[in-house]
Amino acid sequence: MIGTDLDVAISFLKKGELVAIPTETVYGLAANALDSMAVSKIFAAKERPSFNPLIVHLSANADPNDFVFGWDKDVEHLSAHFWPGPLSILLKKKDTIPDIVTSGMDSVVLRKPAHPLTQKLLEKLPFPLAAPSANKFKQISPTKAAHVEKSLGSEIAYILDGGDAKVGVESTIIDCRTKPYTLLRHGGISKEEIEKLVGPINEQIKAHSNPLAPGQMDQHYSTSKPLQLSNDLAKTLKEKQGVAVSVIYFGKLDLHQWSNTYCLSESENLIEAAAHLFNAMHLADQDNSELIIVGPIPNKGIGRAINDRLMRASH
Ligand code: TXA
Ligand code: MG
Repeated sequence: MIGTDLDVAISFLKKGELVAIPTETVYGLAANALDSMAVSKIFAAKERPSFNPLIVHLSANADPNDFVFGWDKDVEHLSAHFWPGPLSILLKKKDTIPDIVTSGMDSVVLRKPAHPLTQKLLEKLPFPLAAPSANKFKQISPTKAAHVEKSLGSEIAYILDGGDAKVGVESTIIDCRTKPYTLLRHGGISKEEIEKLVGPINEQIKAHSNPLAPGQMDQHYSTSKPLQLSNDLAKTLKEKQGVAVSVIYFGKLDLHQWSNTYCLSESENLIEAAAHLFNAMHLADQDNSELIIVGPIPNKGIGRAINDRLMRASH
């Protein structure tokens, strides 16, 4: 069921049921983070391997010290700047966080989301929410309630509709256990913005077979059709004459001879492109093409998060 009723969402969550929640990045599949049984339903609904830990979402006035060690003045400074917002902070966990949330690891990732409806929801709940993106494992992340409905509608009690996600790519994850901090996932806050505040940080984003952050898994965000990246769209499309392709692209291009085209941002605005990315992938996956071609996106700012998602989606 899709709706906008906070009280319905609250009553399901208090009963240990799953509710999809809007955030500024993507929709999340939420459960009471302090209730292991409720959290286990997330893994079942998503068909997500249990070695893939979850992000814990806190209300704006929650105290992170209740859940982690190492919340010092530097982390406080970082969070004061970017919270509420698309930054997720990894620290050593306290026993208040059940092991199932972190897949048995001794660290946990925390975030205070900026979406007003979900902020209100968190304020009214006596517990934080564990929430991965509300899609089946490895599939495209949802930026609209309808995306969630399509992928998980039959498995969840309620989808809280907060409109289109404004940022459109997941939060940036940063490991703050040691200095300099280490970026684990590109996302809604760019590396440049973080470095402006805290100085140079490390990066550990590569794909691993046994990843520290399974958003680091090679294939992820998959369309059901093959998706191919192109550095030279004109050349690639020439080679594909006669093939039914969808084209996802950035900037102003004349593609009138192709019927399935999705522009991420005509004015070459990377923030706008991020907000349109997953919806374009959902649409291209559903149209009548057999192959999705994606043109180049500048690899700076939030463009890094876009390219990261596209690289993992390509197959
Ligand atoms: O924007 C977001 O972060 C969205 C919204 C719903 O908040 N959530 C999201 O969750 O993207 P998910 O589960 O799709 O991605 C969370 C990533 C995963 O790659 C997971 O492996 C990593 O965070 N992660 C969570 N806890 C971790 C931990 N303790 N150590 C390392 N990686 C962790
Ligand atoms: Mg995800």
